[in-house]
Amino acid sequence: PDRLDALKPLLNQVRGRVAAERELNSVPAKDQPLQPGFINLPQQLLDGFRRKQDASDLGKVLRVANRLKENVDRVVVLGIGGSYLGAKALFDALCHAHHNEMPAKLRMGKPRVYFEGNALDNDALQELLELLENTCVDPDIAEERWGVVVVSKSGGTIETAAAFRALRAEAQKYYGPKDPILKQVVVPVTGPKGKLRDLCKADGYADDDILTIPDDVGGRFSVFTPVGLLPAAVMGLDVRALLLGAATMTKRFLEEPAEKNPVLQFAAVNYLLAEENKKTTRVMACWSKKLEAIGWWYDQLLSESLGKFGRGPTPLTAVYSRDLHSRGQQHQDGARDKTINNLVVRTPKHPPVQVGMADRNEDDLNQFSRKGYPDLLDAALKGTNEAYADAARPSADIVLPALSEHTVGQLMQMLMLATVVEGRLMGINPYGQPGVEAYKANMTRHLKAVPNLPKGEVRDQTKGV
Ligand code: PA5
Repeated sequence: PDRLDALKPLLNQVRGRVAAERELNSVPAKDQPLQPGFINLPQQLLDGFRRKQDASDLGKVLRVANRLKENVDRVVVLGIGGSYLGAKALFDALCHAHHNEMPAKLRMGKPRVYFEGNALDNDALQELLELLENTCVDPDIAEERWGVVVVSKSGGTIETAAAFRALRAEAQKYYGPKDPILKQVVVPVTGPKGKLRDLCKADGYADDDILTIPDDVGGRFSVFTPVGLLPAAVMGLDVRALLLGAATMTKRFLEEPAEKNPVLQFAAVNYLLAEENKKTTRVMACWSKKLEAIGWWYDQLLSESLGKFGRGPTPLTAVYSRDLHSRGQQHQDGARDKTINNLVVRTPKHPPVQVGMADRNEDDLNQFSRKGYPDLLDAALKGTNEAYADAARPSADIVLPALSEHTVGQLMQMLMLATVVEGRLMGINPYGQPGVEAYKANMTRHLKAVPNLPKGEVRDQTKGV
């Protein structure tokens, strides 16, 4: 507490700086990039919708999502990094754990959702194409129609572009290359300029058929732009509740005193432990399998924002209690370089599964017969925190009262704001990711060095194995 208190003046100064940056013109990701657009965006989208309904930016997202939902039973979301992880986090956290396996009636008109373009995995892509080819044979039947949401802010990311090339060709084969339905079921989400926009315009898309990612919002801060909102609306999530949660968090960040301010508290505790106590590994211990992808999303947010100039904490996502049986030993007894942030949902959505009485008690569980799964989880959390405290291993709890669009909206906005604050505390610009460019340039060079085969021939990668 003393150290937190001592940090308060600096925290308030940084908050003032981050707030003031909202008024500055954004600078694209090159020299000292500045992309604070995500801070006000949730409230702006809600205000626009209140005023202009269908004609607003949010209205357009909802309209396109409804059109997709009505037209198709499967949607493939293509994108990588900030153009993938937010939508994946929302899908895992807020949709049914077995959404894609559920019969259409139980999904209540919500399409199945797949993610691709997020790696260069030949076999995963082939197997997705195989799934589409084998389950979707008649485009005249609504249940057999499928669509694509392709997301790339720059429009030049090779993982996404190559996957889109494959899916675009597959869609043209399935629906017919000139069928007007293609523009209804293949939806681009991209920045104001770039190769993806050019490609879609050449395909006959009007500007209005393309959803735009604002220039002043960086990729990993874009979950509350069409990047995350369109897939969320297609999944049937309440996007206004998500935005309301995010807008509420921005307001708390701007207005609440440091000691009650979740953004400043989270940033300060993690900053002090990382910078002063050399806790260089930051574990997001998710106490629900449904939160794991939020952990992955935070991995990217932290890595690309603060991993610069030989500095920045290393994020690590774990699911507890699952990973207490794998990483637990190391977190408890290994190198003293970790901060554990527990991410906990207080009340589950469904009634508790009870341990119950059984006819045989060889497993010795009858003593807990009146306990439910939430009791087991709570005991595991308390026991783990206690063990960490006894061994002087720092842990903190982020408690969501329930898992809902509103709480997830708050959480994601809190983590984005806290990352920006932490960067400013460290003297690191949290925007931009110059380090990612090196591999891209090398990759293009290597690709150009691979000799082309004669037209029509395909390289057999298995030769010589
Ligand atoms: O945070 C970022 O900006 C990156 O992780 C990008 O989201 C990622 O590289 C994908 O870029 P794009 O949307 O331009 O395809």
